[in-house]
Amino acid sequence: MAPGFPVGLPRRVDSLCRAHRALRAPSPRRALHAPSPAPRARSGAAQIWLQRQRRDPFVQRAQELGLRCRSGFKLAHMDEQLGWLRPGRAVLDLGAAPGAWSQEAARRVNATGALPGAPRGFVLGLDLLPVEPLDGVSFLGGTDVRAADTETKVRALLPGGAAHLVLSDMAPRASGVRALDHEQSLALCGAALALALVILRPGGHFLCKFWDGASSEELRARLRAAFRDVRALKPPASRRDSAELYLAASGLRAPRRP
Ligand SMILES: C[S@@+](CC[C@H](N)C(=O)[O-])C[C@H]1O[C@@H](n2cnc3c(N)ncnc32)[C@H](O)[C@@H]1O
Repeated sequence: MAPGFPVGLPRRVDSLCRAHRALRAPSPRRALHAPSPAPRARSGAAQIWLQRQRRDPFVQRAQELGLRCRSGFKLAHMDEQLGWLRPGRAVLDLGAAPGAWSQEAARRVNATGALPGAPRGFVLGLDLLPVEPLDGVSFLGGTDVRAADTETKVRALLPGGAAHLVLSDMAPRASGVRALDHEQSLALCGAALALALVILRPGGHFLCKFWDGASSEELRARLRAAFRDVRALKPPASRRDSAELYLAASGLRAPRRP
């Protein structure tokens, strides 16, 4: 299924992504992972970032298709391999702002009912930041995945209180210290996994982003213990010079009896 969400969405992928980044107040050394300096500063780094954005085929394509952000292609490419996002499925999208993954997930699971005769799915996006409303998606903005009441809030919104898929594209604010940023991204994966283990239906799937480094194997081992299959993915839209990687864990195992 080709990526894209055709109807009624604003063609301002750059501005939405930029506004989103500005809200997160990127540090000057953020360039290590995702070069995104505040565009108004127009420092040397900002100029390079702008030039790269203009040349980036995924940015251009996202604008043509009305996607909120080029990151929607990452999910689309990964799902081409995984085949998880099917009509009728319920998805929890963690770190959803500005909304490109939710947008792509909603299209694939038929959350708007646009595919006649196919079962209608459901997408719930969650983020620390507010997210602009999107057709077919429920959002929990201003919500920290690590907060004690998040599980209750999520359960109350998901159909039957459970999801077929939990996706996490969450990223910490980069400090520029590679080892520290790696550990913080793993901590977010840990929080996403803890929520997934109680929210997923039996046999459900989990996808998370992290910045690769010394402790990546520990995350992989935790996933292997809980899921039947685990694989690492680096979609084409993920920049080659970024430490960003994804782990896709499929088939949640039944809990072991004591
Ligand atoms: C790379 S962006 C996600 C982009 C999104 N997948 C899309 O396609 O539009 C990472 C997001 O993770 C969110 N985030 C980071 N820490 C979080 C936390 N503890 N709880 C919820 N969201 C978090 C950030 O606010 C940020 O919006």
